[in-house]
Amino acid sequence: MVGSKKQYLLAALLVVVPAVISWANVPPPPVNQILGIPDASFNNLTEPDCRVCHQNPNIVNPGTIPDRHHLLVNKPLQVPNSAPFDQSGDTTYQCLSCHQQVWNPATSSYVFNTYRDCLFCHTQIANEASVHHLTAKAKAENCKACHGFIDDPLVPHYIPTYAPSLVTPWPSSKPNPGPNGEGECTFCHDAGLNTATGLNVLSNSGTHHSTGLGLGNNAECLFCHDFSLPNDQKIRACEKCHGVASLHNIQANSPNSANATTIVPGKEDAYYGHIGNNVDCNGCHGFAGMSAAAPASGPVMPDVSGLSVAKVTAGTTAVITAKGTAFTNVVTGPAGDIVLTSKVVLTPLDGTPVELVPTVITADSLTVTLPSTLKAGNYDFRVVKVDKASNAVHLSVVPAIKNTSIVSSGKNITIKGTGYSDINSDLNALNSGSGLVAVDSRGKKVACTVTGWSDTQITATCQVSPSIVTVTSIWGKATTKIRKR
Ligand code: HEC
Ligand code: HEC
Ligand code: HEC
Ligand code: HEC
Ligand code: HEC
Ligand code: HEC
Ligand code: HEC
Ligand code: HEC
Repeated sequence: MVGSKKQYLLAALLVVVPAVISWANVPPPPVNQILGIPDASFNNLTEPDCRVCHQNPNIVNPGTIPDRHHLLVNKPLQVPNSAPFDQSGDTTYQCLSCHQQVWNPATSSYVFNTYRDCLFCHTQIANEASVHHLTAKAKAENCKACHGFIDDPLVPHYIPTYAPSLVTPWPSSKPNPGPNGEGECTFCHDAGLNTATGLNVLSNSGTHHSTGLGLGNNAECLFCHDFSLPNDQKIRACEKCHGVASLHNIQANSPNSANATTIVPGKEDAYYGHIGNNVDCNGCHGFAGMSAAAPASGPVMPDVSGLSVAKVTAGTTAVITAKGTAFTNVVTGPAGDIVLTSKVVLTPLDGTPVELVPTVITADSLTVTLPSTLKAGNYDFRVVKVDKASNAVHLSVVPAIKNTSIVSSGKNITIKGTGYSDINSDLNALNSGSGLVAVDSRGKKVACTVTGWSDTQITATCQVSPSIVTVTSIWGKATTKIRKR
């Protein structure tokens, strides 16, 4: 891979991993960085760093930043929210909630506050807390809102209560480990240089503590710790998120030539996950001679790395492709091999989730047709296999801008349609990227004054009756010829 120094620096921080790479960290530590989020710290980011993920097709989605903000217009203000600033008593998001105007004495005029620097509005605490973990969702322990590879800490799930024994995994420092130090998470997950990506992988306390969870609120320490547990049961506090059912279903595809294109638990090369090989079982349980089928293993957790399309338009169907890992996997049941497959679940900010069946699905890619009935808004896109849900990636469904009727009565025109976007009256469409342009039959511009503007109707008074009008809103443009009656 050839790239600029800046890309390499970003890559070292964020690991934008190319599709084909030879993974050099076998055996660990540190582990490979194929799955999930790089085992790093993200609390000293700058705006370009934010865009690496929020516009990168391999991680979240390209180019949806303006849209996903604008889809919040008229939606209730989030309290607390990840971008606290003066919202001057509004109860819903309006243009001016985000695009505030400040007096510029040099030009004696109002100018918009910066609206491209993410960190002007969103907050992080340098060296201590990242932007995502200061959100209401993270504070409410809703880790599953974004993360895939864990059980939901808010939903009760199986955590053993039997007495710990020689085979009980420890987070670290197991006093009676296996011959090579097996029996603890740190046997594989520990600080070190990942040679394939150049990333300095952090220790587990490093990755977890650098989220900032627990900072300034000791109750949050209990998300991950139960300081009253004896050492041999410390893992049980971790099992709130890393329970048996999730740990026994984490597996990347290894280059094993017997099944190169899919994941088959028990038949993968060692150290590509948790259930690929007997050696992996021993890594946690610290004992030679475990059987190859781990209880609750079957639906290996899917992970979505990106979508082919950033946004779709409401009212039209769209075909989109998701890339990732473990969309399907093989499991050997009592009656032979079964292929487990996934569905797509789209969850809107408010409203009920929509389930879709992919038209094409392989282990690392799927294609799905989005129905035209999806309402405009921000959606979380997840791949769900049996009871295992992936991480969330973002999909914007934007309103279609369309003029459905124009009535002109003398100099007054009334345009009806969709997607004009309710712009705050104080803004008067000025500098907002929204507006109305009218021309006469010879193409000459006609001056019009907008007298009313809602999401579905615009009224204006023009100098003379125009022939063609073009409406521009944050969702695009629509041009219509006026039929004279
Ligand atoms: C390592 C990749 C990565 C980086 C870097 C990153 N983000 Fe994110 N961000 C994500 C993912 C993944 C999500 C969850 C899926 C989604 O909503 O897109 C997310 C979600 C969010 C959310 C939604 C929070 C909520 O309540 O749902 C905000 C706000 C956000 N990011 C802001 C930022 C800002 C600001 C920066 C820069 C300081 C940044 N992000 C850097 C990956 C990243
Ligand atoms: C929740 C905050 C928020 C609200 C509400 C909001 N905007 Fe924005 N707007 C943004 C951000 C953030 C950007 C910059 C995105 C970027 O740089 O990628 C932006 C960019 C823009 C742009 C530049 C277009 C572009 O593609 O970068 C225009 C024009 C705009 N907004 C108009 C509006 C209008 C009109 C409204 C009300 C209908 C509105 N915005 C409401 C946050 C918001
Ligand atoms: C002018 C202020 C402002 C700026 C600049 C801004 N945001 Fe936001 N952003 C907001 C507000 C307000 C919200 C809604 C509150 C929330 O989600 O906590 C929001 C929400 C979001 C969301 C979640 C939207 C959803 O799906 O519900 C993401 C992701 C996000 N911002 C990322 C970014 C990134 C990346 C940048 C920089 C390119 C950025 N923002 C710049 C104000 C801003
Ligand atoms: C709004 C989306 C979001 C929520 C909610 C969220 N995270 Fe994260 N998390 C991210 C993103 C994006 C990253 C990478 C960038 C960063 O650290 O901010 C991350 C990184 C991490 C990391 C370090 C990366 C790694 O692989 O080790 C840990 C640990 C983590 N989160 C734990 C949690 C826990 C625990 C919760 C719930 C209490 C939680 N997160 C809630 C989005 C989220
Ligand atoms: C035998 C080695 C080994 C041991 C021991 C081990 N893991 Fe893993 N784990 C891996 C590998 C390999 C991956 C895949 C990493 C990748 O490619 O991103 C992984 C991935 C994960 C992931 C999901 C992806 C990520 O990096 O966030 C979680 C969560 C995880 N392990 C938790 C644990 C916990 C908790 C323990 C201790 C109970 C543990 N692991 C012990 C090898 C191990
Ligand atoms: C998101 C989960 C998480 C949160 C929240 C969290 N920790 Fe930890 N902590 C960990 C992990 C993981 C380790 C590493 C355990 C190991 O390897 O034995 C750790 C290790 C520790 C250690 C052992 C020393 C070290 O650094 O390795 C102490 C002490 C500790 N945490 C205290 C706290 C306190 C106090 C808080 C609240 C301010 C807190 N933790 C919040 C996950 C968390
Ligand atoms: C409140 C939920 C939560 C608890 C409790 C928790 N973790 Fe995690 N852990 C996470 C999340 C989220 C990730 C990141 C998964 C991803 O990449 O999306 C993670 C990742 C990991 C990984 C994979 C390497 C990495 O950093 O990504 C290990 C190992 C791990 N945790 C160990 C522990 C240990 C040991 C404990 C107990 C001391 C613990 N965790 C407690 C949420 C939690
Ligand atoms: C990432 C660490 C990890 C790996 C790898 C792992 N396990 Fe486990 N396993 C656990 C944890 C944690 C428990 C719960 C232990 C406890 O709380 O006492 C568990 C529990 C079990 C149990 C007891 C089941 C129950 O319902 O309580 C069996 C049997 C088991 N594992 C077998 C296996 C086999 C076989 C493999 C390899 C295919 C394997 N494990 C791989 C972490 C792991």
